[in-house]
Amino acid sequence: MTQGIDTLRQQFESDLAAARSSREVEAVRVKYLGTKGSITLLTKGADFAAMPPAEKKAFGKAFNELRAFAEERVAAAKGAADAAEQRDKSRNLIDLTLPGTERTIGSIHPVAGVQMFLEDIFRGMGFMVETGFEVESEYFNFDALNIPSDHPARDMQDTFWLTNGELLRTHTSASQVRALRQYGAPIRAIFPGRCFRYESMDASHETSFHQCEGLMVDKDVSVATLIAVMQTFLNCVFERELGVRLRPGYFPFVEPGFELDLQCVICGGTGCRVCKQSGWLELVPCGLVHPRVLAAGGVDPDVYSGFAFGLGLTRLAMMKYSIPDIRLFHSGDLRFYEQFPAVF
Ligand code: PHE
Repeated sequence: MTQGIDTLRQQFESDLAAARSSREVEAVRVKYLGTKGSITLLTKGADFAAMPPAEKKAFGKAFNELRAFAEERVAAAKGAADAAEQRDKSRNLIDLTLPGTERTIGSIHPVAGVQMFLEDIFRGMGFMVETGFEVESEYFNFDALNIPSDHPARDMQDTFWLTNGELLRTHTSASQVRALRQYGAPIRAIFPGRCFRYESMDASHETSFHQCEGLMVDKDVSVATLIAVMQTFLNCVFERELGVRLRPGYFPFVEPGFELDLQCVICGGTGCRVCKQSGWLELVPCGLVHPRVLAAGGVDPDVYSGFAFGLGLTRLAMMKYSIPDIRLFHSGDLRFYEQFPAVF
């Protein structure tokens, strides 16, 4: 009878070894250890009941060992099969045939890019970079710049007034006197930043735009210094030598005041649609700092002189990239922004 037990054990072992999944292991368990399993049934039949007591005892012992052995092996096989299936499942979570997730790299806003470019150029000429305040006092935006409240020049810049009497700066020139007071003379600084005007919007007018103010005050600064600095930086921006010319221009905080024109970047001066056949592009208002402005900044106009310019950053970006409509800059339209590089 115990021989039958040995045969059964061998059968069980080879069945279990052949089981490849936890489902197949379970089938083996049912086959041998289930209520009607061949191991279970060993002690259930008439044969067992009819055994003489001594044989019954030996058989019972062998039966118990086999059952314990089988239970243990089934549990181990189940554990191994479960773990293997789990591993397979997580491996299948990665579908190598799917296309990859595209990582988009942002691009730098054209105005920010041109600003970074200018900062580099001017730092190279010994200028520091300051930002100033977007919310300004009436004093620094107007009065300190020789534009008292009854001056008609105030009408040149339609202003957003705040209810507390302050305003959104209409130009970066508002930083000139602040900087003179803070650093004194000599000084070389640029002030890139956002300005605001109450404009009706069209292709070339926005209520918010960027300027870059420049200020240099020292002994013996003259119009020649102004022209030299402007020419140097424009050659860097447009990557070639272009002519410049000065025309008289009026701004209460400079004397004399100019409009600096640049030889047309499109036609080189022969005349085209962009320069309206004149060969020149109006680019930067500038001039020598008015003695009253120096005095408001605590700088003695008899000792020091200086120049200032107010470059339209937004306008420069439009020229550099031939952007036809200023409203694109704040449009939030990715098709526009994506055309610019991620690195300048
Ligand atoms: N702040 C002037 C403007 O916005 C430009 C300017 C700056 C003119 C500095 C002269 C000197 O119109």
